[in-house]
Amino acid sequence: MFRVEPHANPVTAQERSARLAQPGFGRVFTDHMAVIRYNTQDGWHDATIQPRGPLMLDPAAAVLHYAQEIFEGLKAYRLVDGTTALFRPDANARRFRWSAERLAMAQLPEALFIESIERLVEIDRDWMPEIEGGSLYLRPFMFASETFLGVKPSSEYLYIVIASAAGAYFKGDGRAGITLWLSEHFTRAAPGGTGAAKCGGNYAASLQAQDEAIRNGCDQVVFLDAVERRWVEELGGMNIFFVMDDGTLVTPPLSGTILPGITRDSLITLARAGGMIVREEPYSLDQWRADSASGRLVEAFACGTAAVVTPIGKVRSRDGEFVIGNGMAGQMTERLRAELVAVQRGSAPDPNGWVHRLF
Ligand code: PLP
Ligand code: COI
Repeated sequence: MFRVEPHANPVTAQERSARLAQPGFGRVFTDHMAVIRYNTQDGWHDATIQPRGPLMLDPAAAVLHYAQEIFEGLKAYRLVDGTTALFRPDANARRFRWSAERLAMAQLPEALFIESIERLVEIDRDWMPEIEGGSLYLRPFMFASETFLGVKPSSEYLYIVIASAAGAYFKGDGRAGITLWLSEHFTRAAPGGTGAAKCGGNYAASLQAQDEAIRNGCDQVVFLDAVERRWVEELGGMNIFFVMDDGTLVTPPLSGTILPGITRDSLITLARAGGMIVREEPYSLDQWRADSASGRLVEAFACGTAAVVTPIGKVRSRDGEFVIGNGMAGQMTERLRAELVAVQRGSAPDPNGWVHRLF
């Protein structure tokens, strides 16, 4: 179904390896992109793999005014046996459809979502970074492209996948915990809103809080619920887990205001399979403070596709800060991270069929 137009002047092999030496996150892009168009008359059509490049958009394109846009994030990995694979792309395809539904957008068939990614990874396979922990981060997204200023669901959409070489999301060795900024004034999502959808607007709404976090020397913002301003929800771009001194894991429930993270779901599954108790239940800021002080809370970590599993060391707010455990990655954080990465890299059994092998 995809028409392939290979890039006439791809980046040279020498330049590519220079860029891949230290890719960081979200700055080094591959040569191609996948594009599929939609309109109400023709449905999904014109699927192409084409050179990555700027888009031409009418200034009245609906997305530029009303932010009808959604996206996904997933990674392609080189497995220990040299195969290239995706991790749970079916889960991303499903979430992309849910997000589309919430934003009143056309729903891309899941098979087409997966095929678009497979084709892009295949043509840009030389962009896989060979560094430790490296991967190819895939960013499928879709936006309203109809030229119309009336406020209504668009009748035209553009779906695109770009790929970016990725190393670690946070600077550092991954052992020192990150510092969170507690957003007391701003919330991320309210009941009935779009918190469970992966839409650009959620991130736009989080940026002033993220800016506050950066100005206060923190790495990420942590949001409380919008109703009582009491319950811990998630970070700007990651879910959160708490580890208690009896080994129990606690993570906020999928109440409709947080993103149903695929990493979150994978960790819950792995932990339960390993005999651990995982409670998906509300956890309050007051309890978090008290449990950190008493030592009942021994670890906390953030998780997501970009962040993988990242220890949380400190929580800072206007009233001061508190430290979790010794501020470093704890045993459970290390263990779960290692277990997840082992499945993702094909060095551990995959009883859930999460690893989608490509070539
Ligand atoms: N929460 C938010 C707000 C995110 O942006 C992300 C990242 O995608 C996550 C949670 C984690 O989701 P996933 O594990 O599917 O990447
Ligand atoms: C991801 O992990 O895929 C995200 O979208 C989160 C963002 C921090 C890049």
